[in-house]
Amino acid sequence: MKRKNPYLADVRTRNARLAGYPARSVFKLEEIDQRCRLLHSSIRVLDLGAAPGSWSLYAAQRIGSQGLVVAVDVRPIAQSFPEHVVTFQEDALTSDGTSWSKFAPFDLVLSDMAPNTSGSRVRDQALSFELFERALGVAVKVGKPGSDFVAKLFMSDAITQAKMAVTGAYEQMRIVRPEGTRQNSSEVFLVGKSKRR
Ligand SMILES: C[S@@+](CC[C@H](N)C(=O)[O-])C[C@H]1O[C@@H](n2cnc3c(N)ncnc32)[C@H](O)[C@@H]1O
Repeated sequence: MKRKNPYLADVRTRNARLAGYPARSVFKLEEIDQRCRLLHSSIRVLDLGAAPGSWSLYAAQRIGSQGLVVAVDVRPIAQSFPEHVVTFQEDALTSDGTSWSKFAPFDLVLSDMAPNTSGSRVRDQALSFELFERALGVAVKVGKPGSDFVAKLFMSDAITQAKMAVTGAYEQMRIVRPEGTRQNSSEVFLVGKSKRR
């Protein structure tokens, strides 16, 4: 197996900050975007689990001022954004979705939501799957026909169920594990392209 240099992790964090992003996670979205062609000029994006704000900022820059990013996180988002980003501090699991539904339909729903790790791998996997399922449920509800979806999932036996759920809702499904993912992380991203009617 190819071993990653731990120094690279710090380089990614530093490069993200130098480029004006609060977190190295921006490189994951950049890679997923390059591989799956998700962000286009003037589209509407819902970003669940948006704090500290790298994905929302990157998406806002890619879509331009004629587009819209709705950024949601249970934590406050301190990042400054351009005017076409609106933020909500909400728990996506318990929210009735009124805040983000006002801006629907969306062309792309992103979820980088992750639970605080508890030390119990099984518990963290179950929480991650709950967040994944919620993101997919939201995307099915507020995504346009033909819209796209990306959500993080901690790898577990539930991957089969997750893949089937995305395949049922979208014309194409793929799994991406970006280069920038930490070596000890079990996370993957499920990408759904072109939501079925
Ligand atoms: C890996 S971070 C996201 C990083 C973000 N994509 C970025 O690029 O800056 C995961 C986020 O998911 C959020 N999160 C976890 N559970 C959530 C929930 N139920 N509702 C909303 N956000 C949640 C956490 O607060 C955390 O900020």
